[in-house]
Amino acid sequence: MQYRTVSNGTTSFDVSTLCLGAMNFGTRTDEQTSRAVLDRFVEAGGTFIDTANNYSVWSGGHGRDSEDLLGRWMRERRNRDDLRIATKLGAAQKDPALPLSTTPPTNYEGLSAEVVRRQAPESARHLGVDHIDVLYGHVDDLDTDLAETVDAFGELQRDGLIGIAGISNVATWRVVEAREEAKRQGVAPYGFVQQQYSYLHPAPKYGRNNFVTPGLLDYAASTGTPERPPLAITVYSPLHQGGIARLDKPLWGGVDHPTSHVRRALLHEVAADIGATANQVALAWLLGAEVPVIPVIGASSVAQLDEALAAADLVLDADVRARLDAEPPVVR
Ligand SMILES: NC(=O)c1ccc[n+]([C@@H]2O[C@H](COP(=O)([O-])OP(=O)(O)OC[C@H]3O[C@@H](n4cnc5c(N)ncnc54)[C@H](OP(=O)(O)O)[C@@H]3O)[C@@H](O)[C@H]2O)c1
Repeated sequence: MQYRTVSNGTTSFDVSTLCLGAMNFGTRTDEQTSRAVLDRFVEAGGTFIDTANNYSVWSGGHGRDSEDLLGRWMRERRNRDDLRIATKLGAAQKDPALPLSTTPPTNYEGLSAEVVRRQAPESARHLGVDHIDVLYGHVDDLDTDLAETVDAFGELQRDGLIGIAGISNVATWRVVEAREEAKRQGVAPYGFVQQQYSYLHPAPKYGRNNFVTPGLLDYAASTGTPERPPLAITVYSPLHQGGIARLDKPLWGGVDHPTSHVRRALLHEVAADIGATANQVALAWLLGAEVPVIPVIGASSVAQLDEALAAADLVLDADVRARLDAEPPVVR
């Protein structure tokens, strides 16, 4: 396992460069399997775990299933102090009678000061912790004054309930504005942004703000100076939920276009040539990028996790990276 230091300019700590996503734990992935995956992750040196306060209502859960399972597991294992726990708020159901949707009307709670102040301690309670290492706004909220959201997260950081704040599913310009607003207020800025990202890119017409963009990578690379505190990028669905490993699995999220199929096939070819798997090459490509990101991986079995863990130490040679980054042939 590899580690890197993350920081918002005020608070710093180390995390494993692979983060384990707990989204399905306690719902789609049963308790026993979830615990086995968590145990194996820790045994392999993993320290960074990602959850949210709405995982996974869409899989028949009540929204706190993952936080609750992590709380039970940490209590039994007595390992909370060895871990860095990230959770998210703002995308739980505003109206519990209505479903969540990624398109309007979304039914998200949003990022008002009231929601941030109410839901953060509630997450800590469900996780059974006295502080949350990383707390993200789960989805940007354009209806709440940005200064109000920044102030609310700033207060939680100042009071020590959370270590580093972050934001997810957001346009780059909003990340920059929020961090500039934090500077104006004299509070620590977002030190994390979490977006979808993988070796497969969405088509330009996709039009949503939840993907990592070249602009975001460029901005993150410019951080880490006294005027511009560090910003780490964590990326979800780096394996396309099995779509990279399985050539028969449909691609989703605006990614199902001809170039993706060429790139996916190339991942498999490269993997065969270097004695790895396509998933491992996809993760190593993210970890070893010019602007490295932290993949948030899902695993529904210990075998899947073991495959992903092997990628933490896989360094792609320059010629392999060049092959992966070469302009793909035009598909007509
Ligand atoms: N910020 C956000 O809005 C957001 C959104 C989504 C996720 N997340 C976070 O990111 C984490 C990871 O998300 P994700 O689950 O979408 O990530 P992912 O790593 O792309 O997908 C993980 C899934 O891929 C499948 N898989 C892995 N290895 C495989 C293999 N060798 N063969 C076939 N299938 C394989 C498994 O699905 P099966 O279950 O089919 O086995 C596994 O559960 C979540 O747990 C959550 O913490 C955040």
